[in-house]
Amino acid sequence: MEFAEMPVTQAKEAFRKTAETFKAGAKTLPQRYFVSSEIFAQEQKKIFSRQWVLVGHQSQIPKAGDYFTSEIAGESLIIVRDKRGAIHGFYNVCRHRGSRLIENRNGQSAAIQCADYSLHAIELALWEGFIFVNLADASTQLGGHISLDEWFVPLAGKFSRWNLSALRSAKRIDYDVRANWKLIFENYSECYHCLGVHPELSKISPSDSAENDLTEGPFLGGFMRIAKGKSLTMTGNACALPIGSFGERDFHLVFYYSIFPNMLLSLHPDYVMVHQLRPQSAERTLIFCDWLFNPEAFNRSDFEPDDAVEFWDMVNKEDWHVCELSQQGIASHAYEPGPYSARESIPAAWDEYYLQQMR
Ligand SMILES: [Fe+2]
Repeated sequence: MEFAEMPVTQAKEAFRKTAETFKAGAKTLPQRYFVSSEIFAQEQKKIFSRQWVLVGHQSQIPKAGDYFTSEIAGESLIIVRDKRGAIHGFYNVCRHRGSRLIENRNGQSAAIQCADYSLHAIELALWEGFIFVNLADASTQLGGHISLDEWFVPLAGKFSRWNLSALRSAKRIDYDVRANWKLIFENYSECYHCLGVHPELSKISPSDSAENDLTEGPFLGGFMRIAKGKSLTMTGNACALPIGSFGERDFHLVFYYSIFPNMLLSLHPDYVMVHQLRPQSAERTLIFCDWLFNPEAFNRSDFEPDDAVEFWDMVNKEDWHVCELSQQGIASHAYEPGPYSARESIPAAWDEYYLQQMR
Protein backbone atom coordinates (compact mmCIF):
# COMPACT_ATOMS: atom_id res chain seq x y z
CA MET A 1 0.00 0.00 0.00
CA GLU A 2 1.27 3.47 -0.86
CA PHE A 3 1.86 5.88 2.05
CA ALA A 4 -0.67 8.31 0.60
CA GLU A 5 -3.42 5.69 0.88
CA MET A 6 -2.77 4.85 4.51
CA PRO A 7 -4.95 6.22 7.25
CA VAL A 8 -2.91 8.58 9.46
CA THR A 9 -3.08 6.28 12.50
CA GLN A 10 -1.45 3.50 10.52
CA ALA A 11 1.03 5.83 8.83
CA LYS A 12 2.31 6.88 12.27
CA GLU A 13 3.49 3.34 12.81
CA ALA A 14 5.17 3.08 9.41
CA PHE A 15 8.57 4.37 10.56
CA ARG A 16 11.47 2.09 9.71
CA LYS A 17 15.14 2.18 10.63
CA THR A 18 17.28 3.77 7.91
CA ALA A 19 19.11 0.58 6.92
CA GLU A 20 15.84 -1.33 6.44
CA THR A 21 14.93 0.63 3.30
CA PHE A 22 18.34 0.41 1.67
CA LYS A 23 18.45 -0.98 -1.87
CA ALA A 24 21.74 -2.82 -2.33
CA GLY A 25 24.01 -1.55 -5.09
CA ALA A 26 23.21 2.18 -4.81
CA LYS A 27 26.15 4.45 -5.68
CA THR A 28 26.86 8.16 -5.47
CA LEU A 29 26.30 10.28 -8.60
CA PRO A 30 28.97 10.65 -11.30
CA GLN A 31 31.27 13.68 -11.13
CA ARG A 32 29.54 15.64 -13.91
CA TYR A 33 26.46 16.12 -11.74
CA PHE A 34 28.51 18.21 -9.33
CA VAL A 35 30.77 20.21 -11.63
CA SER A 36 29.18 20.58 -15.07
CA SER A 37 27.65 23.93 -16.01
CA GLU A 38 25.60 22.13 -18.70
CA ILE A 39 23.98 19.90 -16.11
CA PHE A 40 23.43 22.91 -13.87
CA ALA A 41 21.62 24.64 -16.76
CA GLN A 42 19.50 21.52 -17.35
CA GLU A 43 18.56 21.44 -13.67
CA GLN A 44 17.48 25.07 -13.81
CA LYS A 45 15.28 24.24 -16.81
CA LYS A 46 13.93 20.80 -15.90
CA ILE A 47 13.58 21.27 -12.16
CA PHE A 48 13.67 24.87 -10.92
CA SER A 49 11.70 26.33 -13.86
CA ARG A 50 9.05 23.63 -13.83
CA GLN A 51 8.37 22.53 -10.31
CA TRP A 52 7.03 24.09 -7.13
CA VAL A 53 9.90 25.95 -5.48
CA LEU A 54 9.94 27.41 -1.95
CA VAL A 55 10.46 31.20 -1.76
CA GLY A 56 9.47 32.06 1.80
CA HIS A 57 6.83 32.09 4.53
CA GLN A 58 3.71 34.25 4.70
CA SER A 59 4.86 35.77 8.02
CA GLN A 60 7.62 37.62 6.11
CA ILE A 61 4.97 39.89 4.56
CA PRO A 62 2.31 40.37 7.25
CA LYS A 63 0.78 43.69 6.03
CA ALA A 64 -0.81 44.85 2.76
CA GLY A 65 1.91 46.17 0.44
CA ASP A 66 4.70 44.18 2.14
CA TYR A 67 6.90 42.46 -0.42
CA PHE A 68 10.12 40.55 -0.89
CA THR A 69 12.07 39.65 -3.99
CA SER A 70 13.37 36.23 -4.85
CA GLU A 71 15.65 34.78 -7.54
CA ILE A 72 14.53 31.47 -9.02
CA ALA A 73 16.06 29.90 -12.14
CA GLY A 74 17.70 33.18 -13.12
CA GLU A 75 14.44 35.13 -12.81
CA SER A 76 13.84 37.91 -10.31
CA LEU A 77 10.39 37.68 -8.74
CA ILE A 78 8.32 39.98 -6.53
CA ILE A 79 6.19 38.35 -3.85
CA VAL A 80 3.65 40.82 -2.46
CA ARG A 81 0.60 40.90 -0.20
CA ASP A 82 -2.37 42.79 -1.62
CA LYS A 83 -5.00 44.97 0.06
CA ARG A 84 -7.27 42.01 0.67
CA GLY A 85 -4.49 40.00 2.29
CA ALA A 86 -3.84 37.65 -0.62
CA ILE A 87 -0.26 36.92 -1.69
CA HIS A 88 0.75 37.22 -5.35
CA GLY A 89 3.91 36.68 -7.35
CA PHE A 90 5.12 38.66 -10.36
CA TYR A 91 8.14 38.83 -12.57
CA ASN A 92 10.25 41.78 -11.42
CA VAL A 93 10.07 43.30 -14.88
CA CYS A 94 8.32 46.51 -15.87
CA ARG A 95 5.76 45.96 -18.60
CA HIS A 96 6.62 49.24 -20.27
CA ARG A 97 10.32 49.06 -21.01
CA GLY A 98 11.36 45.86 -19.34
CA SER A 99 13.29 47.46 -16.50
CA ARG A 100 13.84 45.73 -13.15
CA LEU A 101 11.27 47.33 -10.87
CA ILE A 102 12.57 46.57 -7.42
CA GLU A 103 16.16 46.28 -6.24
CA ASN A 104 15.50 45.74 -2.52
CA ARG A 105 15.27 42.30 -1.00
CA ASN A 106 12.16 43.36 0.89
CA GLY A 107 10.08 46.39 1.77
CA GLN A 108 6.70 48.10 1.75
CA SER A 109 5.18 49.60 -1.32
CA ALA A 110 1.65 50.79 -1.91
CA ALA A 111 2.65 51.25 -5.56
CA ILE A 112 3.31 47.57 -6.29
CA GLN A 113 0.15 46.77 -4.45
CA CYS A 114 -1.81 48.96 -6.93
CA ALA A 115 0.30 47.94 -9.94
CA ASP A 116 -0.77 44.32 -9.39
CA TYR A 117 -2.24 43.43 -12.68
CA SER A 118 0.03 45.37 -14.99
CA LEU A 119 2.88 43.03 -14.07
CA HIS A 120 3.37 39.51 -15.43
CA ALA A 121 1.92 37.19 -12.80
CA ILE A 122 3.53 33.91 -11.83
CA GLU A 123 1.80 30.92 -10.34
CA LEU A 124 1.99 31.06 -6.55
CA ALA A 125 0.39 28.98 -3.82
CA LEU A 126 0.71 28.38 -0.10
CA TRP A 127 1.32 25.13 1.72
CA GLU A 128 1.16 25.28 5.54
CA GLY A 129 1.97 29.02 5.33
CA PHE A 130 5.02 28.50 3.12
CA ILE A 131 5.03 30.34 -0.21
CA PHE A 132 5.83 28.34 -3.33
CA VAL A 133 6.07 29.49 -6.93
CA ASN A 134 5.97 27.56 -10.17
CA LEU A 135 7.48 29.17 -13.26
CA ALA A 136 6.21 26.51 -15.65
CA ASP A 137 4.09 27.73 -18.48
CA ALA A 138 1.03 25.54 -18.01
CA SER A 139 0.63 25.10 -21.76
CA THR A 140 4.03 23.42 -22.12
CA GLN A 141 3.58 20.92 -19.27
CA LEU A 142 3.34 17.33 -20.35
CA GLY A 143 0.34 15.67 -18.79
CA GLY A 144 -1.04 18.94 -17.45
CA HIS A 145 -0.01 21.14 -14.60
CA ILE A 146 0.07 19.77 -11.10
CA SER A 147 -1.35 22.15 -8.50
CA LEU A 148 0.46 22.73 -5.21
CA ASP A 149 -2.34 20.91 -3.36
CA GLU A 150 -1.92 17.85 -5.58
CA TRP A 151 1.85 18.02 -5.18
CA PHE A 152 1.61 17.92 -1.40
CA VAL A 153 -1.01 15.15 -1.20
CA PRO A 154 1.53 12.66 0.27
CA LEU A 155 2.05 15.09 3.18
CA ALA A 156 -1.62 15.96 3.74
CA GLY A 157 -2.30 16.46 7.44
CA LYS A 158 1.15 15.20 8.37
CA PHE A 159 2.39 18.44 9.94
CA SER A 160 -0.89 19.85 11.22
CA ARG A 161 0.17 19.54 14.88
CA TRP A 162 3.04 21.98 14.29
CA ASN A 163 0.73 24.83 13.16
CA LEU A 164 3.28 25.77 10.51
CA SER A 165 1.17 28.49 8.91
CA ALA A 166 0.97 30.48 12.17
CA LEU A 167 4.70 30.45 12.95
CA ARG A 168 7.00 33.47 12.77
CA SER A 169 10.71 33.65 12.07
CA ALA A 170 12.86 35.08 14.86
CA LYS A 171 16.07 34.84 12.87
CA ARG A 172 17.37 34.25 9.36
CA ILE A 173 20.99 33.48 8.55
CA ASP A 174 22.22 33.41 4.94
CA TYR A 175 25.01 30.98 4.14
CA ASP A 176 27.12 31.07 0.97
CA VAL A 177 28.35 27.51 0.47
CA ARG A 178 30.97 26.47 -2.08
CA ALA A 179 29.28 23.19 -2.87
CA ASN A 180 26.72 21.79 -5.29
CA TRP A 181 23.12 21.98 -4.01
CA LYS A 182 22.70 18.20 -4.24
CA LEU A 183 25.49 17.69 -1.72
CA ILE A 184 23.46 19.74 0.77
CA PHE A 185 20.46 17.44 0.28
CA GLU A 186 22.56 14.29 0.47
CA ASN A 187 24.26 15.52 3.63
CA TYR A 188 20.92 16.41 5.25
CA SER A 189 19.53 12.99 4.41
CA GLU A 190 21.83 10.88 6.55
CA CYS A 191 23.36 11.00 10.01
CA TYR A 192 26.09 8.50 9.27
CA HIS A 193 28.43 11.51 9.30
CA CYS A 194 27.11 12.89 12.59
CA LEU A 195 29.42 11.13 15.06
CA GLY A 196 32.54 12.51 13.38
CA VAL A 197 31.23 15.87 12.20
CA HIS A 198 28.76 16.90 14.91
CA PRO A 199 30.07 15.89 18.36
CA GLU A 200 27.62 18.20 20.18
CA LEU A 201 24.57 17.05 18.19
CA SER A 202 25.52 13.38 18.59
CA LYS A 203 25.70 13.74 22.37
CA ILE A 204 22.05 14.74 22.63
CA SER A 205 20.55 13.03 19.56
CA PRO A 206 22.09 9.61 18.81
CA SER A 207 23.30 9.39 15.22
CA ASP A 208 21.78 5.91 14.79
CA SER A 209 18.32 6.85 16.12
CA ALA A 210 16.85 7.77 12.73
CA GLU A 211 13.60 6.16 11.57
CA ASN A 212 11.95 7.19 8.33
CA ASP A 213 8.40 7.03 7.09
CA LEU A 214 8.98 8.67 3.70
CA THR A 215 11.61 6.66 1.86
CA GLU A 216 11.04 7.37 -1.83
CA GLY A 217 9.83 10.18 -4.05
CA PRO A 218 10.10 13.96 -3.66
CA PHE A 219 9.55 14.00 0.11
CA LEU A 220 11.94 12.01 2.28
CA GLY A 221 12.67 11.69 5.96
CA GLY A 222 11.49 10.80 9.43
CA PHE A 223 12.63 11.45 12.97
CA MET A 224 15.61 11.23 15.31
CA ARG A 225 15.44 11.01 19.08
CA ILE A 226 16.27 13.65 21.65
CA ALA A 227 18.06 11.47 24.18
CA LYS A 228 19.24 14.20 26.53
CA GLY A 229 17.57 17.50 27.41
CA LYS A 230 14.36 18.98 26.06
CA SER A 231 15.39 20.23 22.64
CA LEU A 232 18.33 20.79 20.32
CA THR A 233 19.68 23.97 21.91
CA MET A 234 23.01 25.06 23.39
CA THR A 235 21.70 24.62 26.96
CA GLY A 236 19.55 21.57 26.24
CA ASN A 237 16.51 23.45 27.54
CA ALA A 238 13.39 24.24 25.56
CA CYS A 239 13.87 27.79 24.25
CA ALA A 240 10.24 28.73 23.62
CA LEU A 241 6.66 27.65 24.12
CA PRO A 242 5.92 24.36 22.39
CA ILE A 243 5.21 24.79 18.70
CA GLY A 244 1.98 22.84 18.84
CA SER A 245 -0.24 20.59 20.84
CA PHE A 246 1.86 17.48 20.97
CA GLY A 247 1.50 14.09 22.49
CA GLU A 248 4.23 12.98 24.92
CA ARG A 249 6.18 11.21 22.16
CA ASP A 250 6.63 14.35 20.03
CA PHE A 251 8.53 16.08 22.86
CA HIS A 252 11.33 13.53 22.45
CA LEU A 253 11.64 13.58 18.66
CA VAL A 254 12.95 15.92 15.98
CA PHE A 255 11.46 15.33 12.54
CA TYR A 256 13.57 15.99 9.45
CA TYR A 257 12.07 16.08 5.96
CA SER A 258 13.57 17.10 2.65
CA ILE A 259 11.11 18.56 0.18
CA PHE A 260 12.29 18.47 -3.41
CA PRO A 261 13.86 20.59 -4.84
CA ASN A 262 14.86 23.30 -2.35
CA MET A 263 13.41 22.89 1.15
CA LEU A 264 14.68 21.20 4.30
CA LEU A 265 12.14 21.14 7.12
CA SER A 266 13.34 20.34 10.66
CA LEU A 267 10.59 20.18 13.27
CA HIS A 268 11.59 20.46 16.92
CA PRO A 269 9.20 20.55 19.89
CA ASP A 270 9.81 24.31 20.41
CA TYR A 271 10.89 25.59 16.99
CA VAL A 272 10.99 24.78 13.30
CA MET A 273 14.10 25.32 11.23
CA VAL A 274 13.73 25.74 7.49
CA HIS A 275 16.57 25.75 4.99
CA GLN A 276 15.79 27.27 1.60
CA LEU A 277 18.36 26.40 -1.07
CA ARG A 278 19.22 28.68 -3.99
CA PRO A 279 21.65 26.98 -6.35
CA GLN A 280 23.94 29.63 -7.89
CA SER A 281 26.18 27.43 -10.03
CA ALA A 282 27.32 23.82 -10.12
CA GLU A 283 29.73 24.64 -7.33
CA ARG A 284 27.94 27.23 -5.22
CA THR A 285 24.67 27.33 -3.23
CA LEU A 286 23.09 30.08 -1.18
CA ILE A 287 21.15 28.79 1.82
CA PHE A 288 18.63 30.87 3.75
CA CYS A 289 18.02 29.38 7.17
CA ASP A 290 15.02 30.49 9.25
CA TRP A 291 14.15 29.66 12.83
CA LEU A 292 10.37 29.81 13.27
CA PHE A 293 8.53 29.93 16.56
CA ASN A 294 5.07 29.90 18.06
CA PRO A 295 3.88 33.54 17.67
CA GLU A 296 2.79 33.54 21.31
CA ALA A 297 6.35 32.78 22.44
CA PHE A 298 7.76 36.14 21.29
CA ASN A 299 6.48 38.33 24.14
CA ARG A 300 7.31 35.96 26.96
CA SER A 301 10.27 36.25 29.31
CA ASP A 302 11.25 32.60 28.71
CA PHE A 303 11.75 33.16 24.95
CA GLU A 304 15.40 32.35 24.14
CA PRO A 305 15.57 31.91 20.37
CA ASP A 306 19.35 32.33 20.31
CA ASP A 307 19.68 29.09 22.25
CA ALA A 308 18.37 27.26 19.16
CA VAL A 309 19.94 29.59 16.59
CA GLU A 310 23.44 29.24 18.04
CA PHE A 311 23.12 25.48 18.22
CA TRP A 312 22.10 25.00 14.62
CA ASP A 313 24.36 27.75 13.30
CA MET A 314 27.22 25.67 14.73
CA VAL A 315 25.88 22.41 13.25
CA ASN A 316 25.04 24.09 9.91
CA LYS A 317 28.61 25.36 9.57
CA GLU A 318 29.97 21.89 10.34
CA ASP A 319 27.74 20.52 7.56
CA TRP A 320 28.62 23.20 5.00
CA HIS A 321 32.29 22.55 5.69
CA VAL A 322 32.01 18.82 4.93
CA CYS A 323 29.89 19.62 1.86
CA GLU A 324 32.66 21.94 0.63
CA LEU A 325 35.24 19.20 1.26
CA SER A 326 33.07 16.77 -0.73
CA GLN A 327 32.82 19.27 -3.57
CA GLN A 328 36.61 19.61 -3.67
CA GLY A 329 37.16 15.84 -3.61
CA ILE A 330 34.51 15.14 -6.25
CA ALA A 331 36.14 17.68 -8.60
CA SER A 332 39.33 15.54 -8.59
CA HIS A 333 40.26 13.19 -11.45
CA ALA A 334 40.50 10.51 -8.79
CA TYR A 335 36.75 10.68 -7.95
CA GLU A 336 34.45 7.94 -9.06
CA PRO A 337 30.96 7.03 -7.81
CA GLY A 338 31.27 5.04 -4.60
CA PRO A 339 28.86 2.64 -2.91
CA TYR A 340 26.34 4.08 -0.47
CA SER A 341 26.18 2.24 2.85
CA ALA A 342 22.93 0.88 4.25
CA ARG A 343 22.92 3.88 6.64
CA GLU A 344 22.63 6.11 3.54
CA SER A 345 19.36 4.76 2.14
CA ILE A 346 17.75 8.21 2.11
CA PRO A 347 20.45 10.05 0.08
CA ALA A 348 20.34 7.10 -2.33
CA ALA A 349 16.55 7.52 -2.63
CA TRP A 350 17.01 11.27 -3.13
CA ASP A 351 19.46 10.67 -5.98
CA GLU A 352 17.05 8.22 -7.58
CA TYR A 353 14.21 10.75 -7.60
CA TYR A 354 16.53 13.51 -8.84
CA LEU A 355 17.70 11.36 -11.78
CA GLN A 356 14.06 10.66 -12.71
CA GLN A 357 13.44 14.41 -12.91
CA MET A 358 16.48 14.91 -15.12
CA ARG A 359 15.51 12.20 -17.61
FE1 LIG B 1 25.17 17.06 9.40
